[in-house]
Amino acid sequence: MKYLVCNFKNKLLKDDILKYNRSLGDIETKIKLVLCPSSIYLGMFEKSSYELGVQDISSFMDKTITGEIEASQVKSMGAKYVIVGHSERRIYKHEINIDFINKINNAIENGLNIIYCIGETLKEKENGMTFEVLEKQISEVLNNVEIKNIMIAYEPVWAIGTGKVCDIKDIKENIKFINDILMEKYEIKLDILYGGSVNDTNIGELCNIKDLSGFLVGGASLDTNKVKGMLIEMEK
Ligand code: PGA
Repeated sequence: MKYLVCNFKNKLLKDDILKYNRSLGDIETKIKLVLCPSSIYLGMFEKSSYELGVQDISSFMDKTITGEIEASQVKSMGAKYVIVGHSERRIYKHEINIDFINKINNAIENGLNIIYCIGETLKEKENGMTFEVLEKQISEVLNNVEIKNIMIAYEPVWAIGTGKVCDIKDIKENIKFINDILMEKYEIKLDILYGGSVNDTNIGELCNIKDLSGFLVGGASLDTNKVKGMLIEMEK
């Protein structure tokens, strides 16, 4: 296990961030801990024992657009990772493949590491479409970018923020499928993370999944005790 990526989403206020930093302290870990707060807070983190990432970047390049945050700005704040393709952005911001392709290209141009999220909805799972969906989400984007500094986060949409973790057997099967596609189509092996209701109590069992490089965690990452607990489990 290499990565614990913490996706704070639009949670935590300035005072919460101050408390979070105090409580996390100079944490010592062999795991690559990546904190992805809202971009407005990037400057509040010390980055001594962890890396910083963002939850989104602009899909445009060199355009003056109110409200956008560019990959180059993220880089200038010392952040090294960006989450692209999260299901909440697919659902609520109606982002589609061309957005992900542009964002990935912008990230690569600026030397950021990309965490590209894929995953099936409950309906797709129930209709036996998981493999088809995963293959489409991979190939329609990766066919159109340079595959550089990209890791894949497998996050079943129905497992995000619901407390329902995907069956270990299903995670293994789906990770194997993703690995096979990457090898067959691109002759490449990428780091694969799992996300969806991961916390300090279930992470131990999930760590047994061979071929996983770590986790993308939302809710449980807002609590530093849970983050410390997850790191301890991952280091075992
Ligand atoms: P969760 O979120 O851990 O709260 O399920 C994961 C994610 O959205 O990346």
